[in-house]
Amino acid sequence: MTEAAAAAQTPYDLLGGREAITRIVERFYDLMASEAEFAELRAMHADDLGPMRHSLAGFLTGWAGGPRDWFAENPDKCMMSAHRGLGITPETARQWVDCMTRAVDDCGMADHDVARLMLERFDMMARGMAGMPG
Ligand code: HEM
Repeated sequence: MTEAAAAAQTPYDLLGGREAITRIVERFYDLMASEAEFAELRAMHADDLGPMRHSLAGFLTGWAGGPRDWFAENPDKCMMSAHRGLGITPETARQWVDCMTRAVDDCGMADHDVARLMLERFDMMARGMAGMPG
């Protein structure tokens, strides 16, 4: 690969594209649905997690620099505003980040630089959603 081609790679590419994002998101909701420590977070979601599996994978794909279908289908949707009014507390924000951290870990990506940066960003977003200082 030339230097220019390497420089053009997005976080999405570096993570492993749709396959990697789908694997992380599937594991995230599987853990949320099965682990007692995430019960409060699970209870905030609809019974059917299918639409969320689809939506989070689509959002993360575009957010990380991949195909932007989700953004085209959800024009003007702001992720922070979409979470206002959901009653997110510091505890449920922590559960979200812990659940996502476990999912990344279970997918064998705990040492992946881009995955670690992504988790740092999620932590900042989750804190903001819970009204906590960054
Ligand atoms: C702070 C912790 C968080 C909690 C407690 C939380 C909770 C929720 C809940 C309850 C929903 C609605 C689910 C449903 O209708 O079944 C939702 C939607 C969603 N969340 Fe979160 N969330 C959190 C953080 C995040 C973060 C950090 C991201 C992105 C990185 C994210 C991405 C999404 C997406 C893409 C949707 C779907 C929005 C839509 O399609 O309208 N969430 N979240």
